[in-house]
Amino acid sequence: MELIGIIITLAFLLSFAASDRQGDALYDMKLKLNATGTQLTDWNQNQVNPCTWNSVICDSNNNVVQVTLASMGFTGVLSPRIGDLEHLNVLSLPGNKITGTIPEQLGNLSSLTSLDLEENLLVGEIPASLGHLSKLQLLILSQNRLSGTVPDTLATISSLTDIRLAYNNLSGPIPAQLFQVARYNFSGNNLTCGANFAHPCASSSPYQGNRPYFLLFFP
Ligand SMILES: *[C@@H]1O[C@H](CO)[C@@H](O)[C@H](O)[C@H]1NC(C)=O
Ligand SMILES: *[C@@H]1O[C@H](CO)[C@@H](O)[C@H](O)[C@H]1NC(C)=O
Ligand SMILES: *[C@@H]1O[C@H](CO)[C@@H](O)[C@H](O)[C@H]1NC(C)=O
Ligand SMILES: *[C@@H]1O[C@H](CO)[C@@H](O)[C@H](O)[C@H]1NC(C)=O
Ligand SMILES: *[C@@H]1O[C@H](CO)[C@@H](O)[C@H](O)[C@H]1NC(C)=O
Repeated sequence: MELIGIIITLAFLLSFAASDRQGDALYDMKLKLNATGTQLTDWNQNQVNPCTWNSVICDSNNNVVQVTLASMGFTGVLSPRIGDLEHLNVLSLPGNKITGTIPEQLGNLSSLTSLDLEENLLVGEIPASLGHLSKLQLLILSQNRLSGTVPDTLATISSLTDIRLAYNNLSGPIPAQLFQVARYNFSGNNLTCGANFAHPCASSSPYQGNRPYFLLFFP
């Protein structure tokens, strides 16, 4: 009986240690993003469980699975500690003014299905480590200032259904497999696509969601 009590207590403490680590990572993310005094006010270091924080979604085991902070005007950088949020499915920070590079630690988020950093001021290269995100379906990095090449490692992500790297400063070849992705957009770079190349820079998938009516009659 005593042993069971000890085990239950340990499990309880461990689950708090886990959410503590996640809370620390989120708090560091808030600081590095340069959130102002009126933003993310409930992202409080003294509160052990981050699952109650605004814009944070957890699963039933108190693991952070979703962080969505769109168009908040953040001007800071991305914390490498985001890589500690090991259960994260969705990371979405579009429409801010985030500077600096994409931390290679994001490649540790092995449960990630959606990464959206569109329309920020990110510089540097797309980290090759993103190729480790084997469950990734959506990768949206368009409208930043990313340079260098499109890493070959992205071609190994077989779950990708939508990749958007448009309007950056990327150059060089695009791995051929990426043209097999259902929806892609590489326009506005200096990449091997478009008029002089074998593939257009953007896929022509005209329907998102419902097919237009006439296509039902004239497929
Ligand atoms: C973040 O905020 C601090 C203090 O307000 C400021 O000195 C710094 O320049 C800001 N950094 C960015 C990247 O905006
Ligand atoms: C996270 O990623 C970095 C860089 O990609 C790596 O050095 C580090 O060992 C990884 N950490 C864990 C816990 O996997
Ligand atoms: C664009 O990329 C090229 C080659 O990588 C680099 O020389 C140039 O400085 C970049 N331009 C901007 C505006 O970042
Ligand atoms: C585009 O990339 C090629 C190499 O892939 C390079 O030779 C050329 O200078 C680049 N053009 C511009 C405008 O950056
Ligand atoms: C490609 O992306 C750019 C920038 O996000 C957008 O303006 C353009 O309409 C897109 N092209 C297609 C065919 O979706």
